[in-house]
Amino acid sequence: MKRLSRVLVTTPFPREALQVLRPYCSQLKVWKNHLTLTRQQLFKEVKGADGLLCLLTDEIDERLMVATPRLKVIANCAVGFDNVDVAAATRHGIMVTNTPGVLTDAAADLTWALLMAVARRIPEADRFLRAGKYKEWEVYLMLGAPVYGRTIGIVGSGRVGAAVALRAMGFQMEVLYTDTFANTRIEKEAGAKRVSLHSLLRKSDFVCIHVPYDKSTYHLIGRRELALMKPSAILINTARGEIVDEKALIQALKSRRIAGAGLDVYEHEPRVPASLNRLANVVLLPHIGSATLETRTKMAVLAAENLVAGLGGRVPPNLVNPEVLAMHK
Ligand code: DGY
Repeated sequence: MKRLSRVLVTTPFPREALQVLRPYCSQLKVWKNHLTLTRQQLFKEVKGADGLLCLLTDEIDERLMVATPRLKVIANCAVGFDNVDVAAATRHGIMVTNTPGVLTDAAADLTWALLMAVARRIPEADRFLRAGKYKEWEVYLMLGAPVYGRTIGIVGSGRVGAAVALRAMGFQMEVLYTDTFANTRIEKEAGAKRVSLHSLLRKSDFVCIHVPYDKSTYHLIGRRELALMKPSAILINTARGEIVDEKALIQALKSRRIAGAGLDVYEHEPRVPASLNRLANVVLLPHIGSATLETRTKMAVLAAENLVAGLGGRVPPNLVNPEVLAMHK
């Protein structure tokens, strides 16, 4: 007989994913508000739950785990899981899962959209036209940066970084990347060269961040790194805000130390500093890397599948802390 569990889903969720959960739940609570639960609400709603399906905006720390002693699985509906204290979860015997793979193409497409938008000043040109400022065609109107044939530097050649690198072939670009391990696929298919971060920053016209965020990548790009970039270079961050020292970036953009930036993520999300907002050489998006209906549905279904696998005593397909299994034997 199936063991039935109590599950909290912290956001209104696609029907397809709820259908995966329902047969395994004696109680399925779905938070009906699109705004993230406050700490207080989260503690109240998660009480007594065996499974928690949450978003990157939910801070899942040890206090919450201690307050929820029945909790067995935390299924994060995102590929990044820096919002979850994974070490604490492991100590408490709780499985943590994420949703890799299903959002790779959406995130790579968005990275390219942002790159093109900054390079060719698309949002600025759109605002210009809508403001009625387009009076006549001019030789020097809205000049941007060339993309075709230039050099792109990919910091982190995991799934999304690699997908961004492969797309660069269409633009006949030189592809540089940094990573601890070689990525033979992008080397073979896109002619990518693995170089040091230092050299990537010095040589690239576009620097795209694709590493996960953890203690080791906090402020990976700071004042010193920005100083290595070409004055004509553009920085794109669709990974996590904390990887880039936002104050240093604003300074570099203001002083034109670098030419521009495209950001989908922020250091203190959802807060965006007013000084960043005021800059013309940035394009700012509200963390929409994976935002297509198809992708978000796949992420939700995968998160639900991870949750029911863990609750059913199976190894979830995307377990991020396999060390925890030793505690379940
Ligand atoms: C993730 O999955 O980590 C993205 O930031 C949101 O889809």
